[in-house]
Amino acid sequence: MAQTVLVIGSGGREHALAWALSKDPGVGAVHIAPGNPGTATVGTNHGVDPMSPAAVAALATELAADLVVVGPEAPLVAGVADAVRAAGIPVFGPSAEAAQLEGSKAFAKMIMEAAGVPTAAARLCISMDEVVAALDEFGAPYVVKDDGLAAGKGVIVTTDRDAAIRHAAGCSRVVIEEYLDGPEVSLFALSDGTTVLPFEPAQDFKRVGDNDEGPNTGGMGAYTPLPWAPAGLTADVVTRVIQPTIDEMRRRGTPFVGLLYAGLALTARGLKVVEFNARFGDPETQPLLTRLKTPLGGVLYAAATGTLAEHPPLQWGSGAAVGVVVAAQGYPESPRKGDPISGADQDGVFHAGTALDEAGRLVSAGGRVLTVVGTGDTLAQARAAAYDKVARIDLPGGFSRHDIAQKAAEIQENQ
Ligand code: AMP
Ligand code: GLY
Repeated sequence: MAQTVLVIGSGGREHALAWALSKDPGVGAVHIAPGNPGTATVGTNHGVDPMSPAAVAALATELAADLVVVGPEAPLVAGVADAVRAAGIPVFGPSAEAAQLEGSKAFAKMIMEAAGVPTAAARLCISMDEVVAALDEFGAPYVVKDDGLAAGKGVIVTTDRDAAIRHAAGCSRVVIEEYLDGPEVSLFALSDGTTVLPFEPAQDFKRVGDNDEGPNTGGMGAYTPLPWAPAGLTADVVTRVIQPTIDEMRRRGTPFVGLLYAGLALTARGLKVVEFNARFGDPETQPLLTRLKTPLGGVLYAAATGTLAEHPPLQWGSGAAVGVVVAAQGYPESPRKGDPISGADQDGVFHAGTALDEAGRLVSAGGRVLTVVGTGDTLAQARAAAYDKVARIDLPGGFSRHDIAQKAAEIQENQ
């Protein structure tokens, strides 16, 4: 049992994870390192460097943690899960080697090819000559991706060939891809390295502005369920994407234990993987965990200890959840920090870029400041609830998209 759980990270996803763990009757104590002012309301924060494998393993040992849950990708790629596992503590999160599914787009493409997983055709380029040749091979719209971790901001999709070339020039290794049309879906699945347990699908809004305008961000909002998704989508993704990838990783001797996040495009030519992430998505996790009925600690512990095959399927509430990000002025280019925040103490408000100043006041401390989740029987009700809460939050210069889940709510109302 996961009596004592340590969550690593400090974003909205970690606040949602710590909150959901704190509601699990099987979990006695939730600790977070380093956490944020929001996680401090559902557990105990520890000022430990999440990027230091040795420091995290030492904290987990000191707390006698039964389970460590690693939230963000950077600690995973840095080997935090390996160090905790080496200390004999169950950990939900892949090894550094397995986290390369997210850490290197070129590695992910290689695994997908070996496993027969549908994805965009792509070329890995080192020189600008290769870049130009690949851009002209695929044509516009151009998709240019920094090969390494870039917090969701290393990708541009543009019809401007010069802009595509400029972006590539700023990366040392770059992946140029075929453009995928069609709506995007985020499908999360838990795995113990062998068995997989899928979440319900969610959809994220990557662009900063309404109507998907402006630059890519880490994600401006998300909702679940997807009334427009084809029946059988989850089963199809498990069969064609998730299970073959998990099997290929195990076959290579680098089993993937943790959450495999498939970012998918439902194209005219069928579903294709846009990207893999090796962790829960942010902000999808906030609405998804709001709808999850299965106690979170028990199922993450089963994944961490290789017993997922014995765990029943995840249970979901019948209604909808919509999460709207409140971002700081200037996000994503240069978010302003240090502005006072009020209204963040409502139910369903998850903290990300927040901090307490010397006077103990809540202030902004990052680009995505809060994710505000509303729930309801329908997406329209959940949206209204989310935007109602957003209206009661004050952050000077702060902004949100106004159209999160709007089209989906209209589709649902017409069904
Ligand atoms: P990634 O970091 O690979 O998820 O890319 C960030 C975002 O860029 C995705 O969520 C998509 O919106 C967009 N994108 C990435 N790859 C493609 C592609 N091949 N075709 C169209 N859009 C893409
Ligand atoms: N929601 C996008 C991400 O977590 O990468």
